[in-house]
Amino acid sequence: MHKANRAAVVGTAAAALLVSTFTVAASATPENAAQHTKPKSDVAAKTLGALGKRADLRIGTAVDMSALASDAPYRAKAAGEFSSVTPENVMKWEAVEPRRGTYDWAAADKLVDFAEENGQLVRGHTLVWHSQLPAWLNNGDFTADELRDILHRHITGQVTHFKGKIWQWDVVNEAFNDDGTMRNSIWLQKLGPGYIADAFRWAHQADPKAKLFINDYNIEGVNAKSTALHNLVAQLRKEHVPVHGVGIQGHLDVQYSAPHDIATNMKRFDDLGLETAITEADVRIPMPVDNTKLEAQAEAYDVLLRGCLLTEHCTDFTVWGFTDKYSWVPGVFKGEGAANILDENFEAKAAYNAMSADLALAAGRG
Ligand code: G3I
Repeated sequence: MHKANRAAVVGTAAAALLVSTFTVAASATPENAAQHTKPKSDVAAKTLGALGKRADLRIGTAVDMSALASDAPYRAKAAGEFSSVTPENVMKWEAVEPRRGTYDWAAADKLVDFAEENGQLVRGHTLVWHSQLPAWLNNGDFTADELRDILHRHITGQVTHFKGKIWQWDVVNEAFNDDGTMRNSIWLQKLGPGYIADAFRWAHQADPKAKLFINDYNIEGVNAKSTALHNLVAQLRKEHVPVHGVGIQGHLDVQYSAPHDIATNMKRFDDLGLETAITEADVRIPMPVDNTKLEAQAEAYDVLLRGCLLTEHCTDFTVWGFTDKYSWVPGVFKGEGAANILDENFEAKAAYNAMSADLALAAGRG
């Protein structure tokens, strides 16, 4: 289906779904609430990846390499349910160059091989970030010239290593503060804002076919941060900097309202000729879990996915882990968790069923 048609189908269906979701939330008892998002059996038989392909959309997951190695059901789901994968940690700088000049690609190569075996595309994550930098870099007290050279080598080395194997790179990650100012990272401090354009140019030189993304959180709706990012990418496009896409992470919390203006926001990027993607979706829940919270979670996933389905050049929707068995959330947000679409036993939650239903609609199956 052409993506414009996909958007039209979803647009009509979305209004109905939205009404039904809210009606359910208002009137359902906890026991029957989850029933409403159960897909029809023919839809249930299809994986998210398979349903997504029919709607021209890759459905991906972040992959935890320890779980992949040690947990057979995790591996089976990662292989079978998704059509793209993102390394949760193993392509980050601290993982690939733990000591200066000593590279360790082993874990990242394993994921690339896994993806190839399973016919999945790979999102590379991430080249330039303020976090998970190796200690030698954080503590190095380098001059601006040295740091620029280090960054150039890192980007060229990593993108060249994976040349031809990465579909989309998160070249620059989390460069903004929520108020729209630029994050005062080591990169901004020492190199100035031009580090962003440089990073994209260097990545493009190393692999001209990879799609290059800028990625951030809290940019789902129209707000100061997404507007600042929009202004930046508009400027970069004018200067012919090879930036191809905007990654919207999608880390949400049922305590805050879902970003219902996401399609409006995503259209701004689409209008600049950019691709978009939801790159790290999860929706955390203040524990303990109950069916009302699970329904609110399903609605938030639904809002994110429909934002993507309504946007012509939204290419992929990635969940940041798929099972509550493994998640970064409890370690960072005390008292919160259960942020993923499958529970700890790999059973589908309402969120999974909502995604399945949205994708089936988008594929024109009603
Ligand atoms: O590297 C050490 C390892 O040597 C040690 O054995 C292990 C023991 O716990 O810890 C390892 O470091 C952990 C690392 O993940 C790798 O597993 C860190 O403690 C832990 O803080 C780190 O967390 C990751 C986090 O990024 C770091 O910022 C999460 O797993 C990962 O999900 C999270 O992902 C980020 C995205 O990259 C960017 N957007 C936000 C998202 C969520 O924070």
